[in-house]
Amino acid sequence: MGKKVVVLGTGGTIAGRAERGSDNVGYKAGQVGVQSLLQDIAPLQDALCGRALVAEQVAQVDSKDMGFSVWAALAQRCAQHLQDAEVDAVLITHGTDTLEETAYFLEQVLPATLLQSKPLVLTCAMRPASALTPDGPQNVLDAVAVALDDMARGVLVVCAGAVHSARLVQKCYTYRVDAFDSGDAGPLALVEEARVRWLGNPDLAPSPRMVDLPALANAPWPRVEIVMSYAGASGAMVRSLVAPDVTVPPLRGLVVAGTGNGTLHVDLETALLEAQAHGVQVVRASRCARGQVVAGDAPAALPHSQGLSPVKARIALMLELMA
Ligand code: SIN
Repeated sequence: MGKKVVVLGTGGTIAGRAERGSDNVGYKAGQVGVQSLLQDIAPLQDALCGRALVAEQVAQVDSKDMGFSVWAALAQRCAQHLQDAEVDAVLITHGTDTLEETAYFLEQVLPATLLQSKPLVLTCAMRPASALTPDGPQNVLDAVAVALDDMARGVLVVCAGAVHSARLVQKCYTYRVDAFDSGDAGPLALVEEARVRWLGNPDLAPSPRMVDLPALANAPWPRVEIVMSYAGASGAMVRSLVAPDVTVPPLRGLVVAGTGNGTLHVDLETALLEAQAHGVQVVRASRCARGQVVAGDAPAALPHSQGLSPVKARIALMLELMA
């Protein structure tokens, strides 16, 4: 039986501060240290049921600025804590804006053997710590309840009383406190008065990748960009991304957020096929917030994203190119 719960802080609105308590948008994210955030949550001690709480600040960023170096550091810290026999679970406090990307990235790079035995739970807030009614403290308490639940496994996201899988979770609202959902599948579980009511099984599909975590920090991340199809789209953007430019690494991959079922404006599609012929890997996702690209019988010239949203398809492609 483990004796510790580790919380890794990365910043976000949950650690944000505004000048006025009534200001829920004009705040600065990533201002309050994770230790002090946790100290202010009085019921946390009871929620831990005798376990020690270890807080570690891995980063202090607005998650719109999330980047590879923080991801590499976070993956290493998660792996180290998850393999510690004294640790029951690892939590991460994170900004909501790119939380789904970090969750998916961690699920893909952390060894499945670690995630099969212990949960890694990301949580967040839509109101800053300085708000009149911040949502962060309750989200942290709910995340602890999930982390200590016997059924919890893999990478999970907890926000506004709902639990989501890393693969399906998506930020859907700009301002609402329940900003996330899991599309057609719905949440995996609900947290009610510190009790977790499971609606589905946490996905324990083993990560297909063998990633050398220490090497991630120094590895050159392949440049993969996202473009979108829309009325009047042309091939100009894709051609300028593919054109050699000594100031940036060469383009290795492109994810296109297509219309509807991953369809593309004919001019954009022409440029994407040219890019593919030049060795750039192209993946077709959908810009729709719900559903996924459904393949027809005929093989498509541009492969689809296997149900991943454009931002997650980009992570999958980067990792594939690194492998
Ligand atoms: C962020 O993503 O860091 C800012 C926005 C938020 O956490 O809600």
